[in-house]
Amino acid sequence: MIIALDGPSAAGKGTLARRLAGHYRLALLDTGLIYRAVAARTLADDSDLPERERAIAAARSLRADDLARPGLREEGVGAMASKVAAIPEVRLHLVDFQKNFAKHPPDGKAGAILDGRDIGTVICPNADVKIFLTASEEARAERRFQELRTGGSDTIKARVLADMRERDARDSARSAAPLVPAADAFVLDTTALSADQVFDRVVAHVDAVRATRNS
Ligand code: C5P
Repeated sequence: MIIALDGPSAAGKGTLARRLAGHYRLALLDTGLIYRAVAARTLADDSDLPERERAIAAARSLRADDLARPGLREEGVGAMASKVAAIPEVRLHLVDFQKNFAKHPPDGKAGAILDGRDIGTVICPNADVKIFLTASEEARAERRFQELRTGGSDTIKARVLADMRERDARDSARSAAPLVPAADAFVLDTTALSADQVFDRVVAHVDAVRATRNS
């Protein structure tokens, strides 16, 4: 089984993806981490090349180890990730790795869940189940703010909201694989839902899809 999970930042994809992976015993790929790793390498490259060229070179030579770099979750890396993710050549270099993960899930797993922005539309257009999680801007900013505070970061809510708006606008407006729900995605607004409620609704949907397939 392949599950494609997409949505804007801080909609709850990460938590849901981990729980679904455990529940259905699927391999999990957080594809945002791949763009973050390219961003971190681009930022660390102090050559005189223009940013675009540095980003393409970073994507071309990305290795699995790069996904374990420290600091990938930082806000500055996230902002840079959304810049490099808008470059079509960068995306092109990262497609095979993601498709291959879905086709041959590691650790002997029988299926995979990939979370990101273009999984249901570009990476796994034939996924068995497509989910698009969304939530109001305020709810997402509040969640991100709480996450950052828990992680010890000293930040203000207005700044978090402004950064998130900028990143989402860039992800939605770009011409290369923009953030849009696939036509056949199950769209769930999580604004007023707890993580448990989101999980229960998605599991009910996945089980219903599987039951129709098997009947
Ligand atoms: O999900 P996360 O916040 O880690 O993603 C960082 C950035 O990577 C996003 O803002 C988006 O620009 C980019 N991304 C993407 N396609 C994906 C996953 C992430 O363009 N499948």
